[in-house]
Amino acid sequence: NVTVGLVGWRGMVGSVLIERMRAEKDFDGITPVFFSTSNAGGDAPKFDGIKASQLKDAHDIKALAACDVIITCQGGDYTSKVHQPLRDTGWDGYWIDAASTLRMEDDSIIILDPVNRHVIDDALANGKKDFVGGNCTVSLMMMAIGELFNKGWVEWVSAMTYQAASGSGANNMRELIEGMGVLRDAVADELADPASAILDIDKKIAQTQRSDDFPKQYFGVPLAGSLIPYIDAQLENKQSREEWKGGVETNKILGNSAENNIPIDGMCVRIGAMRCHAQGLTIKLKKDIPLEEIEAALKNSGNKWLDLVEDDKEATMNRLTPVAVTGTLTVALGRLRKLNMGPEYLGAFTVGDQLLWGAAEPLRRMLNIIRE
Ligand code: HSE
Repeated sequence: NVTVGLVGWRGMVGSVLIERMRAEKDFDGITPVFFSTSNAGGDAPKFDGIKASQLKDAHDIKALAACDVIITCQGGDYTSKVHQPLRDTGWDGYWIDAASTLRMEDDSIIILDPVNRHVIDDALANGKKDFVGGNCTVSLMMMAIGELFNKGWVEWVSAMTYQAASGSGANNMRELIEGMGVLRDAVADELADPASAILDIDKKIAQTQRSDDFPKQYFGVPLAGSLIPYIDAQLENKQSREEWKGGVETNKILGNSAENNIPIDGMCVRIGAMRCHAQGLTIKLKKDIPLEEIEAALKNSGNKWLDLVEDDKEATMNRLTPVAVTGTLTVALGRLRKLNMGPEYLGAFTVGDQLLWGAAEPLRRMLNIIRE
């Protein structure tokens, strides 16, 4: 019976994690210990036969060290503060983390087992103890086209992303909807009148978006009815940190060394979707592989979450959108076709739920791999 410490379980990713763990009966046979950064001593949640207990202090290193496994969705600052002091006590348990802090450390493994189970198994065999969920965009891309990398077909990838508000947090999702409402309210009378002029509506919308009191506290600029072509910090090489992660994390997930590093780059863009990230991909293949062969490889990859959408308008509109995919573990991949640049250039579009495969799901699966 494994003692599993849960930190950050009340936040958005944490709540999705708990929901998924309950749905898959992951609490059977473990002893969960619920930690809190703000409410230690309060009542811990009880469900599914879990015994009543009190929340422990998430900064209490001794209490953390009593766990065999710690899963944290608390965020990077928490990891920075707690992980090293905990290891310094000689704690030898498994640390499973959703935050990016430890991702690129030599000793940590980025977990996405449907794609890199062999990397995870090697790490476990070598006594590694720090397992970190990947960046959501990277994980979702890999859930879609991981098989093409595993086949050794990919020379490089350009990923142009359409990222949902949830990637920035719960407040950002609220701000997006708030913004949508403000826009609608600003032109409610004109919308109700079929004879009103669309350009007048448009003008009022632009004025509203540009007004000082438009909701933009969290995103910094308006998102509703617009987009933001910058995600995360600006790096010295002019990539955004999100774009940088695409390259370094993909290669780390695959266990690639510097010599066989695959270039991945593109533009990461925030759009007004709730929790599904989409990506338009240009994949440069190492050689001209027929489309049928590519489709067959994807179909036979054993990835049961992949919805390979035929490149047909109706199927695309019905299955390859955030609305179609949201709240599910399905990762949709479609618009697969050879581009006019030449037979080695494959176009693709993919959509996945950023909170599931992009955040919570790899964590709960890692717990189960440890328990195997
Ligand atoms: N950084 C991602 C985003 C989410 O902002 O959409 C977390 O991986």
